[in-house]
Amino acid sequence: MKAKIVTLPGDGIGPEVTEQAVRVLDAVAARGGHEFTYESALIGGCAIDATGNPLPDETLAVCKSADAVLLGAVGGPQWSDPTAPVRPEQGLLKLRHHFDLFANLRPVKAYPALAHYAPLRADLLENVDILFVRELTSGIYFGPRQEQGDGDSAHDTMLYTVEQVQRAARVAFEAARQRRGKVASVDKANVLASMRLWRRAVTEVAADYPDIELEHVLVDACAMHLLRRPASFDVVLAGNMFGDILSDETSVLAGSLGMLPSASLGVGSFGVYEPIHGSAPDIAGQGIANPVATILSAAMLLRHSLGLDDDAQAVEAAVEAALASGARTADIADPNTEPLSTSAFADRVLAHL
Ligand code: NAD
Ligand code: IPM
Ligand code: MN
Repeated sequence: MKAKIVTLPGDGIGPEVTEQAVRVLDAVAARGGHEFTYESALIGGCAIDATGNPLPDETLAVCKSADAVLLGAVGGPQWSDPTAPVRPEQGLLKLRHHFDLFANLRPVKAYPALAHYAPLRADLLENVDILFVRELTSGIYFGPRQEQGDGDSAHDTMLYTVEQVQRAARVAFEAARQRRGKVASVDKANVLASMRLWRRAVTEVAADYPDIELEHVLVDACAMHLLRRPASFDVVLAGNMFGDILSDETSVLAGSLGMLPSASLGVGSFGVYEPIHGSAPDIAGQGIANPVATILSAAMLLRHSLGLDDDAQAVEAAVEAALASGARTADIADPNTEPLSTSAFADRVLAHL
């Protein structure tokens, strides 16, 4: 098949991991007889430096012409002055909002090859297979806000409508039907009015899915349950901020933040695919970042935007085989293993592919 893929490498380790994921996509195209064309554009801090805007109009136009977007990461200390008029992260939020990508899928798996060196007991990691459905274009990230006022206060507002909750909830329930039939909905209904609305809206959707088991979990307890009984979770449905926080937490189950991919979807097949991690300024420029999260994001792109499920599975299997054969980047290496560079790790994935 033919497809146009836009890459937005961004800042920090973004370009380093994106480059490796594109090598994997090229290999998929070669073995499957597909024709992928790429165009690269600016987002984040590098876009601010070049144009003053973290999401230039030109970038939006190029994304609009694409079947899918593969994004690295944005941000870094050089753009993090709290008084700066524009921030790299605004570019990412605007991109998600512009394309109405309300459903952010974040799969979390624990890899047997990494279990012996995990900070959690290996037996707790058996059969861990979680899918976060994070609402991505509403909630406190997008509610009414006041940056300054008189300089002595600022506010952000957690605002949800029933419709915003329910379209994300439907994605979660549909996904559960293809999986193990369970949804855990995360809220803070004991304190927040917006989260009482969330619980009511999710409960209404559940009435259309009598075959799915729904559990409501308060976010604070959920943070604990995800580490105490991770294998009991199937689909976890959460709002924008709670989903952001809990998914980083569960990267510990997968071995590292460098392991978790994501797909940001709306209606239709277009999507933005990115690792859940950020620009990792502490290791940027050293060629040691873990490319797995971005490679697995490319696999999600193949599956969700291009309909190439077999190719997606082949990429996932190649990552798993590389890990099983002992390939490790520094973030997942135990003290007895010599870590591979970002590109050498990708070489190992490509060899298995
Ligand atoms: P981060 O995710 O960049 O890094 C957190 C820790 O995880 C660091 O120690 C880092 O070295 C490590 N890490 C992350 N990805 C890794 C990888 N692929 N391989 C090995 N180690 C990895 O979070 P942060 O340091 O809190 O944020 C840095 C910047 O990134 C901030 O400006 C933040 O806003 C931005 N950010 C962007 C995105 C995005 O673009 N989607 C996501 C999260 C954070
Ligand atoms: C993520 C990031 C973003 C978010 C930031 C950089 C805006 O943390 O993709 O998880 O909070 O959504
Ligand atoms: Mn995050």
